[in-house]
Amino acid sequence: MRILVAGATGVVGHPLVGALRARGHRVSALVREESRAPDADDIVVADALDREAVLSAVSAARPEVVVHQLSALRLLRDDPVEAFAQTARLRTEGTAHLVEAARAAGARRLVAQSIAFAAAPEGPPVLDEDAPLHVDAPDLGWAATVRAVAELERLVLDGGPDLAGAVLRYGTLYGPGTAYARDGGTAMRVLAGKFPLPEGGAGITSFLHVEDAVGAAVAAVESQATGVFHVTDDEPAPAAQWLPHYARVLGGPPPRTVPAALAPRLLGWFMTHQLTAARGAANDRARTTLGWKPLRPSWRDGLGRE
Ligand SMILES: NC(=O)c1ccc[n+]([C@@H]2O[C@H](COP(=O)([O-])OP(=O)(O)OC[C@H]3O[C@@H](n4cnc5c(N)ncnc54)[C@H](OP(=O)(O)O)[C@@H]3O)[C@@H](O)[C@H]2O)c1
Repeated sequence: MRILVAGATGVVGHPLVGALRARGHRVSALVREESRAPDADDIVVADALDREAVLSAVSAARPEVVVHQLSALRLLRDDPVEAFAQTARLRTEGTAHLVEAARAAGARRLVAQSIAFAAAPEGPPVLDEDAPLHVDAPDLGWAATVRAVAELERLVLDGGPDLAGAVLRYGTLYGPGTAYARDGGTAMRVLAGKFPLPEGGAGITSFLHVEDAVGAAVAAVESQATGVFHVTDDEPAPAAQWLPHYARVLGGPPPRTVPAALAPRLLGWFMTHQLTAARGAANDRARTTLGWKPLRPSWRDGLGRE
């Protein structure tokens, strides 16, 4: 198939281009800077926020399937405000541009990256895809992020009768290039003893190795299935389990326990929420409908090792 990958220089997008080519697909890489493009059959250049440029790049590639792996979360370490603001624009404007361009180019399928940790913290500890999103989160920044996620998902799923949409809600990514890699931002904070465990540590994280994010994207490209899918490992885990394990594997100090009320000052609202209240994400739908399963079923085997 002819496939266009937007975000082809990214932690997921870059290996995805190679994985799709290894399966015999013809892959166009959409990038902002040609010099940074991965090995691809074709390179097209556009800023995803520039509608005309996206329309022209996608029409030149004439893809049957468009894959959306755009985010600006790489900026998180240096400028979190800008990282979230740019990512929200990519999820709303960038997605709208890709949907319009995919339709205009005659693509029949769009596969887009989303996140599996945006559900409202209600109900059982592990949720399926039908659980409501946390669009009314008490933190205005996180509420804005989740509303942008909801808009991305709406745009992808409402692409019209000729454009089938699949949304992959990735769990918290770990592995090379991510924040949880040994040289990533989260690892640095844990090693410096600046990532405390709020008392109880009952918030649940569903992790996902980057290789499994790539594998799920390949499965979604080749599938006919539409809808929203949690792409997560098989072992949703409370912070009280994974954080001390991660610190130990990294070779850092055990995380100190702090009163929950103090945590937002030390960790910010979002991370406190993740560590105290967040729900995990069940991957049954991706297994049964996409025919995908994680090759790294448990974070225990790899988190903090690479
Ligand atoms: N589920 C999760 O845990 C999750 C989800 C998303 C992201 N993250 C974090 O983000 C990183 C990995 O995920 P990722 O692969 O989604 O992100 P990434 O590695 O930052 O890749 C994002 C891609 O989007 C492209 N992009 C950004 N702005 C663009 C624009 N205006 N126009 C065109 N392309 C643009 C980037 O291109 P350039 O090279 O030109 O910048 C890059 O190819 C890790 O640090 C990870 O920890 C985590």
